Amino acid sequence: MKDQLTPSPNPTGQQWNTAAYAANGRFVATLATGVVELLAPQSGEHILDLGCGDGALTEQLAATGAIVIGVDASSTMVAAARARGLRVEHHNATALPYENQFDAVFSNAALHWIRDAESVLKSVHRALKPNARFIAELGGQGNIAAIRTALQALLAPYGIDAEETAASFFPSPAQYKRLLEQAGFAVQSIDLIPRPTPLPQTRQSNGMETWLNTFRNGVLDLLPAEDRSKALAATIALLHPILCDTEGNWTADYVRLRFHATRA
Ligand code: BEZ
Repeated sequence: MKDQLTPSPNPTGQQWNTAAYAANGRFVATLATGVVELLAPQSGEHILDLGCGDGALTEQLAATGAIVIGVDASSTMVAAARARGLRVEHHNATALPYENQFDAVFSNAALHWIRDAESVLKSVHRALKPNARFIAELGGQGNIAAIRTALQALLAPYGIDAEETAASFFPSPAQYKRLLEQAGFAVQSIDLIPRPTPLPQTRQSNGMETWLNTFRNGVLDLLPAEDRSKALAATIALLHPILCDTEGNWTADYVRLRFHATRA
């Protein structure tokens, strides 16, 4: 079903299958300990979880006694998060309807899906109370570089520009610090953190195949079925010597950008 509330909720064409995400993307919330520690949620604080996905992490934040509202642009994710009994609203991060409302805005693994960072930061700034904090983690410069390079090379013969189609945003610390400051934030810390990430393997497919089918279906699904299978197999073969160990365990070359900023 098409999202009703946002003009362009899914600019990347990435389709969020909540069942597949729950099965294959669980590590996204599990590996968020560092950014949650940086947030240090306090009981009674009003916190916005921006790009809350299926609410796995939102639920953890709410368990601290903080008053948490989740927001996501995907209607399927909003439904999945609401099914946990959470308060979740359906908005695009570039056009949040809140003003002077939150003690903290938190975001994990969501901001790299949106290229219009200026609008996101303007929207977050407006949502925060004065001096309130914006704590987030997203993919940073060099994130999944090997995977992106393989897709770019192997989809080019089909006339697909994988980078443009995925439309991801993986900024450097200097670039994002500048954007934060231009939007009216003071930056307390901003760090690029390489985080090689083991990919779960399922009974049906290896870790890389599962990852590509979960997170790059918006790109691969542009191909007819036969070409899709060939391109998928070729991508996996090209990445195998780099990202797969001798036991068949795959690791993705994730790089996180983690920051703590406050509304100046
Ligand atoms: C990330 O968390 O960095 C990410 C996840 C899926 C696709 C692209 C990036």
